[in-house]
Amino acid sequence: MGNLQNLQSQLDKLIKEDPSEQKNIGTFTAIHKNPFVYQYLFHYLNKNVVDRAGYTSLSYFEKTIEKYFKKLFDNKDGSVVLTAGSTESILLAFHYAREKAKDEKGITKPNILVPKHAHYSLKRCAKMLNIEVREIGLNDTHTTDIEEVKKKIDRNTILVAAIMIATELGVIDDLIQLDAIAKEHDTWMHIDGAIGGFIIPYLDTDLRYTFSQLESLFSMNISCHKFGLSLVGGGVLLLRDKKITQAYTGNIEYLSSGNKKMAGLTVTGSSLGLFSLYTNLMLYKFQGYRKFAKKYLKTKKELTDILQSFGYSCYQGSPYSPQLFVYGEDASRLSKYLLGQGWLQHAYTVEGLGKTGFRIVIKKDQEQMLLNEFIKDVRDFKLLANQKLLLKNSYQGAHAINRLS
Ligand SMILES: Cc1ncc(COP(=O)(O)O)c(C=O)c1O
Repeated sequence: MGNLQNLQSQLDKLIKEDPSEQKNIGTFTAIHKNPFVYQYLFHYLNKNVVDRAGYTSLSYFEKTIEKYFKKLFDNKDGSVVLTAGSTESILLAFHYAREKAKDEKGITKPNILVPKHAHYSLKRCAKMLNIEVREIGLNDTHTTDIEEVKKKIDRNTILVAAIMIATELGVIDDLIQLDAIAKEHDTWMHIDGAIGGFIIPYLDTDLRYTFSQLESLFSMNISCHKFGLSLVGGGVLLLRDKKITQAYTGNIEYLSSGNKKMAGLTVTGSSLGLFSLYTNLMLYKFQGYRKFAKKYLKTKKELTDILQSFGYSCYQGSPYSPQLFVYGEDASRLSKYLLGQGWLQHAYTVEGLGKTGFRIVIKKDQEQMLLNEFIKDVRDFKLLANQKLLLKNSYQGAHAINRLS
């Protein structure tokens, strides 16, 4: 009993020290807590996601989600692989492309073109698979330099990677041009839609991002635990070739599920990502996600206007990205002050822009708080900084008068 009490007080103390995720404005991970999801959480806590054939509800969620993504990205003849997140999806996409290119094109020394602003997971996954990474520089819009792609692509290129909303600056690569180059060189394209996959399809844009619009599109990864609003551990990989997962994955005897083809990488895994994604999709539907995406952008504009009125610069990236990068003379000091007020973010120097500041990711359930409490804290910081400056000036002024008299 004593032990239990000790553990409880230790846990309570530790948990108290954790900051609230509500104030985590730097992360892309969803902080939304759908009460409906939480009602059923306990049932799914220890269900192994790989046992989908055994647990009927899980296989039902999977089928519904598959249908959803095939429709959203116009890929009815393709396939959808459930993963634990974008990194697993990227590793699988590169693996499938490598195997297919070897068998169908005889490519034994494959390379992938990866833009400099890509998330580090792309380069890491390629290296793990022994695929040469050819880094592509950025142009003055901080997106993939098309001319450099043309120079670096060759007959051993198995994928041209493109980013649909970049992690740092929120830009989107020129998907149409990259698709044209890939087609011309008889190769394929991969889109990293970790962030954009749950934003772009819901907005009115003239972007082309579906499998029917981009002929060379081989695969796309999406993180569901970002703007899909699922619990952590949710991702998908969309593949154009329906048969590819059958061709390049092994079988496993799985107790409750019988003999299974393993299209994903991990075996035992949490089913919370799958369950919560399904529940959110059913609850909010297309129109709900559309309303959320529009709200992120509206908040981004209002936040930018206010921060600019305080003298900060805001890099906004694509007009469709839900984030901004705040910089300015005292941005590092502001970041430190905000940390002290419980806001999770940190200042760093962003490559390409060459500016030091911090990123704000506008997520569901943070919009109002950003416009109210967050802005109030920025205002307080500015007032304090001005007071300090006034004090310093009056001290220096008094010193000068003393010296004169
Ligand atoms: C653009 C991009 N790609 C890939 C990833 C990796 O995603 P995950 O954390 O779901 O593995 C991230 C993570 O932030 C990202 O921003």
